[in-house]
Amino acid sequence: MAHSEQDNRRDFLKKMAAATGGVVLAPMVVACAGGSQGGKAAGGTTPAGQKPKDASKAPRADGLGYTGPVKTSVTVPTERPADWNAVDFNKRRGNAGAIPKSYLGAINGPDGDKKHLGKHLPYIPALEGATVPAGHMAIMWGDPSKGYAQHPNAVKDPSRKYVGHWYNWIRVRKAVAGEAEEAQSTFADWPGTGEEAKKYIAKGGGDIKANSGKSTVYLVALPRDVKKGDTVRVWAHCLTHGEFVDFITI
Ligand SMILES: [Fe+2]
Repeated sequence: MAHSEQDNRRDFLKKMAAATGGVVLAPMVVACAGGSQGGKAAGGTTPAGQKPKDASKAPRADGLGYTGPVKTSVTVPTERPADWNAVDFNKRRGNAGAIPKSYLGAINGPDGDKKHLGKHLPYIPALEGATVPAGHMAIMWGDPSKGYAQHPNAVKDPSRKYVGHWYNWIRVRKAVAGEAEEAQSTFADWPGTGEEAKKYIAKGGGDIKANSGKSTVYLVALPRDVKKGDTVRVWAHCLTHGEFVDFITI
């Protein structure tokens, strides 16, 4: 996609946000092709005019600096399979390399499906009185109505080399077999300051850090070709626990 189109998109979103009093975000459309692994997509911090790095060549690490999907033997589908089972799929892909080895024991262990894997699956929370910026959707992780543990969020602590705990990139793509845009939102910090802090809201209001950050709502950019009622693929990376994929209808 040409940079001028990205710039136009950003300008449009800024105007929309200004007009609605919403939050200004600058999503980055990372892929136009229908490729399922997305290995060539870049992180949201690539400066304009520079060729994005091939994220698939990034070192497999669980900390800061890891920006792109890891390549595994398990292909990520572009549209929702008829027999889709998010827990089974992510367990399979996680064991194939998408989840750090250090977390696999919990994932594969007793109650792993609900306490660990389900905890990382996205859902759209019911928000009362909160404004989601135009062109965005609200996402939380670990739907309590399915019996999943709620995903916490935690600040980084360089003094003990702790990278923190949050989703640092979230990719959304219309769930179709053919070509579709994929919009990536990046989160450099949690709860963050300045523009970074505007990427989240706290469900029900209040302090976003309360209750181990479990009421954090991520404001995630939607691709332009997505409308209400569509099913989208959400592909996201938790800093400490790896990548997870699911399909949700917006
Ligand atoms: Fe996590």
